[in-house]
Amino acid sequence: MTEPLLYEISSPGRRGCRLPQPDVQREELPAGFLRDDLPLPEVSEMDLVRHYVHLSQLNHAVDTGFYPLGSCTMKYNPRVNEAISHLPGFTQLHPLQPPDTVQGALVLLYELQEFLGEISGFPGISLQPAAGAHGEMTGVLIMRKALYDRGETQRNVILVPDSAHGTNPATTTMSGLKVVQIASDAAGNVDLDALRVHLSDQVVGLMLTNPNTLGLFDEQVLEVTRLVHEAGGLVYGDGANLNAMLGICKPADLGFDVMHFNLHKTFGTPHGGGGPGAGPVGVTAELATFLPGPIVVEQEDEESPFLTWHVPEKSIGPVKSFYGNFGVLVRAYTYIRMLGAEGLRRVAENAVLNANYLLSRIRGVYPLPYDRTCMHEFVVEGRIEGAPDVRALDISKRLMDYGFHPPTNYFPLIVPEALMIEPTETESKETLDAFAEALLKIAEEAREDPELLHNAPHTTPLGRLDEVRASHPKTMRLCYTQEC
Ligand SMILES: Cc1ncc(COP(=O)(O)O)c(C=O)c1O
Repeated sequence: MTEPLLYEISSPGRRGCRLPQPDVQREELPAGFLRDDLPLPEVSEMDLVRHYVHLSQLNHAVDTGFYPLGSCTMKYNPRVNEAISHLPGFTQLHPLQPPDTVQGALVLLYELQEFLGEISGFPGISLQPAAGAHGEMTGVLIMRKALYDRGETQRNVILVPDSAHGTNPATTTMSGLKVVQIASDAAGNVDLDALRVHLSDQVVGLMLTNPNTLGLFDEQVLEVTRLVHEAGGLVYGDGANLNAMLGICKPADLGFDVMHFNLHKTFGTPHGGGGPGAGPVGVTAELATFLPGPIVVEQEDEESPFLTWHVPEKSIGPVKSFYGNFGVLVRAYTYIRMLGAEGLRRVAENAVLNANYLLSRIRGVYPLPYDRTCMHEFVVEGRIEGAPDVRALDISKRLMDYGFHPPTNYFPLIVPEALMIEPTETESKETLDAFAEALLKIAEEAREDPELLHNAPHTTPLGRLDEVRASHPKTMRLCYTQEC
């Protein structure tokens, strides 16, 4: 049954709540302060509750079903993270309070810096950036400033492999630098010959998403970072896929100079939920002086409070207000403390195991362009032998009828009809099996009745949307009230 919209059930005079009688004298509001031109719905409290609960059920969510959206790490985030981040001792602090009145919060931030440093191998950490892409831009600005500081102001190019996350070239451009794309080799690694051709004294550095968007760990990463350093450049490691490496490998040991973390993918905050995120940045000791502050440090004077904050000497300047998104940092701290070193390692092991298991279930039916052991995710082609008209989009839309969120479609661009699948470590074998069965069944359906896929989804409140109109404010409502 389609629920009526709130405006349609509005009835004059109906109220959702009654305010208590005022205990002060009533005064008329000055003329013009009250407006009656807004058609606000008049509904009961129950109507309102039903309206919002119904809206919340229209979307697929990690809380309602499997969500294998590649590159997004849509895992279950334990509720305890939420509970801790909502404690009044955290929510009722003010960022301008003097350090001696917020020692608990500073201890949390200090220890989180230490934990992220230990996990990544980077001695310098700034918690300030608010998202992955924001962390990338912070890192690239640090790289640029460090090279300018050496007097190498002619450097204006960032090399970006074609298997990088899309935010890497975008960040480069936003930072005022030029992007030069580097091809991948047949195994899905950075092509070393292509890299050598583009290395010069114009290069600020290379941005390497590792594992890359094919879900593959670059087997030549040590040679890649060595070559870039030899040319005088720096290497940015996109650490958003850290879920595959936690406790197994430290990115700093691979030769990266800068890296961001996606706390809202890896460390306990939901990704893509429309809420805030955090993209802390880690750097080598040499680059620590360029980090944005405030950074929590130990007070040298033992008479004074134990912890305080400082801004590094050659900082690129603040990239966000105060300490960054504090609530997300509390969640990450809780998650790390809850799992400990052993638990974090098992996160990565299970993320990789789940991805390889799922891959093994559908191998041979969905073409695999780079047939290697994958990391936390993998990319297959959304093409089915014997069903030439069926495309990746059709497969994804049909998966919705089976109750699953589709994988990431048409990304990375180097794989035709790409379906990028990231199951995450929090899913059970039963869920992985059910998803694999659905994909295998859909392959059969594609051969027997391709129209079933072309017209999918059949069971969702709306079918295929015109995605441009659906996201434009002027046409959005039209799109949600009729098929478009
Ligand atoms: C590999 C990679 N890099 C960067 C990002 C950008 O992160 P954000 O969406 O927080 O800006 C993502 C996002 O998922 C990612 O998967």
